[in-house]
Amino acid sequence: MGPLAQPPGTTGSSTPRQDRPPTSRLEMTGISVAFGGVRALTDVSLTVEPGQVHGLIGPNGAGKTTMFNVACGLVRPTEGRITWRGQELRRLRPAQLSGLGIARTLQGVGLFPGLTVLENVMVGAHRHARAGFFSALFAIPTADRDEARLRERALAALTELDAEEFAGRYPGSLPYPVQKRVALARALVAEPELLLLDEPASGLSEDEMHELGELIRHLSGRMSVLLVEHHMDLVMRVCDQITVLDSGEQIAAGTPEQVQNDPAVTEAYLGDAVDAEADAAELAASDGGTGRG
Ligand SMILES: Nc1ncnc2c1ncn2[C@@H]1O[C@H](COP(=O)(O)OP(=O)(O)OP(=O)(O)O)[C@@H](O)[C@H]1O
Ligand SMILES: [Mg+2]
Repeated sequence: MGPLAQPPGTTGSSTPRQDRPPTSRLEMTGISVAFGGVRALTDVSLTVEPGQVHGLIGPNGAGKTTMFNVACGLVRPTEGRITWRGQELRRLRPAQLSGLGIARTLQGVGLFPGLTVLENVMVGAHRHARAGFFSALFAIPTADRDEARLRERALAALTELDAEEFAGRYPGSLPYPVQKRVALARALVAEPELLLLDEPASGLSEDEMHELGELIRHLSGRMSVLLVEHHMDLVMRVCDQITVLDSGEQIAAGTPEQVQNDPAVTEAYLGDAVDAEADAAELAASDGGTGRG
């Protein structure tokens, strides 16, 4: 039996990484992406520092999801470099992510409808299962031990997200916000060092969004987070650094305060709203206030 089949520790601890602060940095440098003739991203760079929450914002069509998809290997950049754990990732593929310590939640929920909540979360923990295919096949005792450990870790992740009561339910029978928590538990159970979140707050109530913010802040003690999000109050509250895109280009970067005070951001991000307001004001002034009442 090889070393991988040995139990990893004698204490039975199910939280091997949580007390270690993250040390890895994600560097995306000079990323350009073109879809046919459309330039979705032009020379965008960002660095997610270890243990920080990095926000990626910008108006519709700015290129946020494209950048996110580059980070998780769904889109190959036409130019640029991605460095993670000090190594350049030449071809990042979605299937390699968990092995690299990266987990993501996509904009939808993406749970397996035919698996229970607990089973869905256990799927996310799989890279930690010690038993390989063959030991599982021949039911070597370590497989049972791993199954039990996996179950325990999955339950712990559900508990952290206050969703343990739904462990035996099927995703389709649960409200959307609960499904989102389960999807997040599935990402967390792998104990990633980098968590990629695409619009995690969509479809959540104010209270749920607030809780999500607290959770993301709390998680940053043990992992780095790249957060694509439309809800500005959430972004400003939880992010250490923010990169702002507009029409595929990076127009600002910095702390929430720096970004909020950047006129380029106001112009790009609030441009439409400001224009609409100005138009309304102009109209009201020009017709002598007849629009009143
Ligand atoms: N698969 C694709 N094929 C062609 N064009 C694409 C594709 N994906 C994105 N684009 C284009 O690239 C640009 C950036 O899109 P992207 O989805 O990254 O923006 P976004 O910032 O996520 O926008 P939103 O806020 O609306 O989600 C847009 O012009 C979009 O139409
Ligand atoms: Mg998007």
